Amino acid sequence: MNLSVHLPGLSLQNPILPASGCFGFGREYSQFYDLNKLGAITIKAATGETRFGNTTPRVAETSSGMLNAIGLQNPGVEKIISDEIPFLEQYSTPILANVAGSTEEEYEYVAKTLSDSGKVSALELNISCPNVKEGGIQFGTDPTLAASLTKKVKDISDVPVYVKLSPNTSDIKEMAIAVEAAGADGLSMINTLVGMKIDIGTGEPILSNHTGGLSGPAIKPIAIRMIYEVSQVVNIPIIGMGGVTCKEDVLEFLLAGASAVAVGTANFRNPLICPELIDALPELLDQYAYSSIEECIGRSWKNARESAPFSRS
Ligand SMILES: Cc1cc2nc3c(=O)[nH]c(=O)nc-3n(C[C@H](O)[C@H](O)[C@H](O)COP(=O)(O)O)c2cc1C
Repeated sequence: MNLSVHLPGLSLQNPILPASGCFGFGREYSQFYDLNKLGAITIKAATGETRFGNTTPRVAETSSGMLNAIGLQNPGVEKIISDEIPFLEQYSTPILANVAGSTEEEYEYVAKTLSDSGKVSALELNISCPNVKEGGIQFGTDPTLAASLTKKVKDISDVPVYVKLSPNTSDIKEMAIAVEAAGADGLSMINTLVGMKIDIGTGEPILSNHTGGLSGPAIKPIAIRMIYEVSQVVNIPIIGMGGVTCKEDVLEFLLAGASAVAVGTANFRNPLICPELIDALPELLDQYAYSSIEECIGRSWKNARESAPFSRS
């Protein structure tokens, strides 16, 4: 079965890619399998300078998920280009580079540096990190700021730009429409939801940052609902993510309206999850009588539209 999906800047042989921050820069996972197998690789967020992130503890387990408050730890965009991306260049897998910052200028600098390097296929603009004091989520919850940043990054980037949306907003559709109008080539959704865990022994928050981003199976129904809503109001493709752990989840994301599916937290539990999902997809699609990925995308709402009276011209 042909699993390929063609998205702006990303020609994927299959719709599965690791989500940013859950795969580092690929080195550790390359010890488990051939990274050529993946549809694409999303690398950890890059900022203008080296960041050490928040102090520990910065992860905590929850029922059906985890909280993290890493705080965008990364070596900085220049070191990522000189020390990390060359390792990935031995693979033919497209690289989606996650871009973060505290100010518009920092985002622009990181995006331009990555785009000018000629080493990445597309950018993923992270306007949704809940774990840093400045930048990140403030751009991700205000449609005007998000659109302005998207436009600025689009203007200086030679590669397509996917905007990674935050679920920590009252109307994600409004955010999606705003960044599409500003020129986004695609969307990634969703990032983590702000959550918290308290140690009942000490009575204090467990994470040093107090709050963290909730990921894993607990957030999947929210991601599905948001992708279902957003995919019906935009004309750009969506890379869906949030709690994927099995092949059925992948199909559910596609049916909701995602064109590709990223796997985050599940990589920590099973480093082979991505290749296992890729291998399992053909049989699953066959079982439900789908002959391509394209056929599945948005089926959950397209069916209703196609059978509604007056919907056909
Ligand atoms: C430890 C950790 C680090 C993350 N770092 C980033 C990051 O650097 N940039 C980003 O856009 N998202 C980051 N995310 C969010 C994931 O890419 C993903 O959107 C989210 O975890 C939902 O998917 P999941 O439930 O499959 O993990 C991180 C998530 C986790 C758990």
